[in-house]
Amino acid sequence: MTEYVLPQHANALGSVFGGQIMAWVDLAGAICAQRHSGHMAVTAFVDDLKFEQPVRVGEVVRLDAKVTAVFRTSMEIEVVVQGEDAMTGRRWPCVDAHVTFVAIDQDRKPTEVPPLLLDSEEVRASQAAGEARRAARLAPKPI
Ligand SMILES: CC(C)(COP(=O)(O)OP(=O)(O)OC[C@H]1O[C@@H](n2cnc3c(N)ncnc32)[C@H](O)[C@@H]1OP(=O)(O)O)[C@@H](O)C(=O)NCCC(=O)NCCS
Repeated sequence: MTEYVLPQHANALGSVFGGQIMAWVDLAGAICAQRHSGHMAVTAFVDDLKFEQPVRVGEVVRLDAKVTAVFRTSMEIEVVVQGEDAMTGRRWPCVDAHVTFVAIDQDRKPTEVPPLLLDSEEVRASQAAGEARRAARLAPKPI
């Protein structure tokens, strides 16, 4: 997904609001989850976000979303966000987000999703890393 940064996206410093980046991350992730699952998908959890470098008015925000792990009804989607200077092609890191989406059926109940095809070492490693992150995210938190 590609977005051009306009003044209405920016804070008083002329760079994109964090919340605007989060909205775009959510959208790109939802499209990816719906393409994979063939169902509507709702956002269940967003892992910690670190904003690395700003993107300013007149620059481009590029979002690349991919399915990194699939569970029963939920999917972990990684959205890599980069800033881009469209004239020079220079790109820089902005955010690397992991978002969990749950596929829902017509009654708005969680519904099973197709598994990832574990047909390469890269995909198997991705699924295993996603399972480790899921265990951490679902673990009971100390009060
Ligand atoms: C997400 C939601 C559908 C889960 O419903 P639920 O009744 O808890 O369903 P279940 O307990 O059967 O869990 C369904 C899946 O969600 C996962 N899940 C639920 N809460 C989660 C959380 N906080 N983090 C990660 N995964 C979560 C479960 O692990 C399960 O995954 P699995 O089937 O792959 O093992 C429900 O909490 C919901 O509708 N939340 C609001 C979503 C929303 O409004 N998002 C913003 C707008 S899109």
